[in-house]
Amino acid sequence: MINRETIDNITSAVRIEEVIGDFISLRRRGVNLLGLCPFHNEKTPSFTVSPVKGIYKCFGCGKAGNAVGFIMEHEHLSYPEALRYLAKKYQIEIEEEARTPEQIQETSEKESLFNLNEFARKYFSSALFDTEEGKALGLAYFREREIREDIIRKFQLGFSPDPWNAFSEHAITEGYKKDILLKTGLSLEKEGRLYDRFHSRVIFPIHSASGRTLGFGGRILTSEKNRPKYVNSPESDIYNKSRTLYGIYFARTAIAQKDNCYLVEGYTDVISLHQAGVENVVASSGTSLTTDQVRMIQRYTSNITILYDGDPAGIKASFRGIDMVLEQGMNVRIVLFPDNEDPDSYARKHHPQETEKFITGSAVNFISFKTKLMLDETKNDPVKKAGLIKDIVASIALIPDVITRTLFIRECADLMTVPEQVLMNELNKIRRKRLNKELQERGGTDDIPAPEIIAPPQPSAETDTSSAESQEKEIMRLLLLYGTDIVHIEQPDENNDIVKVPVMVADYMVHDIRRDELGFDNKIYAAIFEEYIAGLDKDQIPERSFFLGHEEKEIAYAAVDLVFTPYELSQNWKKNNVMIDIEEERLIVRLDYSLLSFKARKIDRLLEELHKKLHGNESTEDVKQIQTLWKNLKAKSVQIHRKLNRIVIR
Ligand code: CTP
Ligand code: MN
Repeated sequence: MINRETIDNITSAVRIEEVIGDFISLRRRGVNLLGLCPFHNEKTPSFTVSPVKGIYKCFGCGKAGNAVGFIMEHEHLSYPEALRYLAKKYQIEIEEEARTPEQIQETSEKESLFNLNEFARKYFSSALFDTEEGKALGLAYFREREIREDIIRKFQLGFSPDPWNAFSEHAITEGYKKDILLKTGLSLEKEGRLYDRFHSRVIFPIHSASGRTLGFGGRILTSEKNRPKYVNSPESDIYNKSRTLYGIYFARTAIAQKDNCYLVEGYTDVISLHQAGVENVVASSGTSLTTDQVRMIQRYTSNITILYDGDPAGIKASFRGIDMVLEQGMNVRIVLFPDNEDPDSYARKHHPQETEKFITGSAVNFISFKTKLMLDETKNDPVKKAGLIKDIVASIALIPDVITRTLFIRECADLMTVPEQVLMNELNKIRRKRLNKELQERGGTDDIPAPEIIAPPQPSAETDTSSAESQEKEIMRLLLLYGTDIVHIEQPDENNDIVKVPVMVADYMVHDIRRDELGFDNKIYAAIFEEYIAGLDKDQIPERSFFLGHEEKEIAYAAVDLVFTPYELSQNWKKNNVMIDIEEERLIVRLDYSLLSFKARKIDRLLEELHKKLHGNESTEDVKQIQTLWKNLKAKSVQIHRKLNRIVIR
């Protein structure tokens, strides 16, 4: 945790025009600066920076925020990462909150691991380019694989030379400590002597999303069978295999731009595709895909396309990876390469444009992929076919979004020629089972049911039932994200016919909350809510950017925080016009769910307080009054919970 004071120091030192000026060129226009928006394609500048207010806003695409928000958005960093970036730029020392001596020790050790890796990376690179041995063996090897020099330099490939302890010796004479050499795994110890893990191998540095060297992979130059083809850095304080994706640093911008991430198996697949101009690609590096890796990708896009080479064993093993992606609520497509081809070999044999065309042209969704693959096996065997159906429905059941699930069930029914209802029943059975299991594991009988589709993830730390923090936060988030959007709400007209009436989301929410005379415990949220009330009274709903650049820093921080919470309505539905109605319906359902949860929490808390009063020893004359109030509230609570249940069940 970066402490408050440091955050304040950073934000007061930051000049937004300097921060943004590092990425795009800005021209002065009156009190503001103007440039081409980095977030969407434009020819005439509509990206405006206000040095006075410390904010930016693009009048083309609507993106807005302060300097921290800009760095988060542009560099795909988290809030603390963005703060660190700015602290570095303005040479502000970061003070972490209440750190123990052990924690301080830990950071400095991490830094020395990073330092050594950086030193090693440069050493391997110059061994490749500047030594005779490197040129004759390493460069020759890359050349044989047709990897261009600009690509070698971009990926910072290298070579670890002879003799077997050349690197370790050099590092020690340069003052690097033995224990750090061992911890990074660059050196190994045998009978008191150090030798090089990667010796006589070409080197593939593994980068973090922000470009730091986490570790290395080293490949032998020959095809001898008795030595492992690759050796990799061992796990360390800075290298965690399951949280690393090879190539993410070079791919992240392209992934966000293309709104899709290609996932391949190996280092060389990533490199060859880059060389062919396909840059939105990362590798899981031989391990099976992990949830952490999927979440990393999710920071840039919700679409993953997995590229497989054709061997059946690998494909079967990959089914688990598909399920993992689905479970995160992401869309997954699959490309199967022709027999004996992997992305690397394919890209080398074909023209770059052909490669791109092949990938986009042969990507299929996971249902068709799995179905077709397995239908061949099951042929006309009804028992096997039933097994296949269960298998596929189990995958569909993992998808968090109800509409996506429904569409896939429909597609599956078509492909397998089974009635949709049969699949639906099976799906519900699986989901119910899973839900029950979850409830049992949690051991709770919380009468607000586990939010199934609509609700945002509830922070797990919040077991304290008296706090309404998460409900308040969700209301705020919806207000800020969708406040000025229009939804059509069903209402009875004068003839009592139900008609759809357009209202602004903020209008709808604020009225609903005020009608029940409820407020916010969180002071900042309360202040934001006040602004909405004031705005509505003047018929002027405040824009999100108003809060992002609010003069009261606390409000601006909170707004940035809320807006950047990575939980948005799926972009997919927006693209497809047919779905817009459904999308709007989902938003309304979400608004209602959040409003009801908010009310439920507030009312139940009141009930609890009243209960305490009634059963406490205070002798109050107005016991009767409290009892009546309690009864009324209880009735209301029951009603609300019933409504909530209905929303979840549908
Ligand atoms: N891998 C590994 N150790 C091995 C074999 C493979 O760590 N002994 C990892 C590497 O990250 C490798 C990936 O698994 O990139 C995929 O393996 P493979 O397809 O065999 O390697 P390629 O990257 O295709 O390498 P090459 O084309 O040089 O054979
Ligand atoms: Mn290969």
